[in-house]
Amino acid sequence: MTETVSVELGERSYPVVVGPGVRQQLPDVIPSGVRRVAVITQPGIPWTVEPGVETLHIDVPDGEAAKSLAMVETICGQLSRAGFTRADALVALGGGVVTDLTGFVASVYHRGIPFVSVATTLLAQVDAAIGGKTGVNLAEGKNLVGAFWQPSAVLCDTETLETLPAREVQCGSGEIAKYHFLGGGPLDGLALADRVAACVRIKADVVAADEREGGRRAVLNYGHTLAHALETAGNYGLKHGEAVAVGLAYAAEVAVRLGRIDQTRVAEHYRVLAAYGLPTKVPDGLGSEDLLPLFVRDKKALDGITLVLDGPHGVEPVVGIDAGILADALEAVR
Ligand code: GLY
Repeated sequence: MTETVSVELGERSYPVVVGPGVRQQLPDVIPSGVRRVAVITQPGIPWTVEPGVETLHIDVPDGEAAKSLAMVETICGQLSRAGFTRADALVALGGGVVTDLTGFVASVYHRGIPFVSVATTLLAQVDAAIGGKTGVNLAEGKNLVGAFWQPSAVLCDTETLETLPAREVQCGSGEIAKYHFLGGGPLDGLALADRVAACVRIKADVVAADEREGGRRAVLNYGHTLAHALETAGNYGLKHGEAVAVGLAYAAEVAVRLGRIDQTRVAEHYRVLAAYGLPTKVPDGLGSEDLLPLFVRDKKALDGITLVLDGPHGVEPVVGIDAGILADALEAVR
């Protein structure tokens, strides 16, 4: 079954199509009038697409290394030499690295050209490919250069998840667990395609309400403050979604210490994380002295430490949390 969710942004509204084989719908979602496209992908992505117009193929290196300003310059040079103009478009074929990079190139090449994402990982389908956050990394940190630039369409082909390594599925599950607490409810009982569609509906709703993260969109950062610290503090082998899982457990431990939620709700966090087989503990060797100072470097920290926490009014950003509570809650996830 195929489901189409619309991200409602007025004239820039676009469809996110979820289901097995939907990559074959690519010709239908290339904006009308586009003369040719550049398909940007990585050698490790075992899928191909047929855009239905003249196509330039651009391979970028596997892994996070592709998300660099140097790569943006390389791709823009290739587009320029091929004579690409605003009458042309880009297609991202891959996971979050490819959709972030391609979206950013699309936002800056000739001051902006259209792009379509064909998302082939669970993480990209439920999060990265939707909502128009595009960008690349600096040596100083992840996603520090970027733009809000919405795609013309996103195709979440659930057939591509069948070849995904178990660890990559786990990574997407960390984000899916997050949606449970953003109004998604018990998603773990659903078939995978329905679970993806449920997450897409929540994300589309949040993005439509707050495209540029002036407020509500910050809830999508639930579990991410500790997650980013875990990822930055060292190469301890946690993938993003796994780090988010530990971050969700931590956020519950902080919220209960602030009297925002009760022990039943904390237990619900651990039950959901266990249902997806996700970790809930900080890896050995990382102490609070390594992690807590990194909370203030989080991109979301506009005014000291901001944590997104569950509470009586649902998940929301909370400022001014006592340092003792932050440290004590960290002991609970060690
Ligand atoms: N991944 C968080 C957001 O799109 O806002």
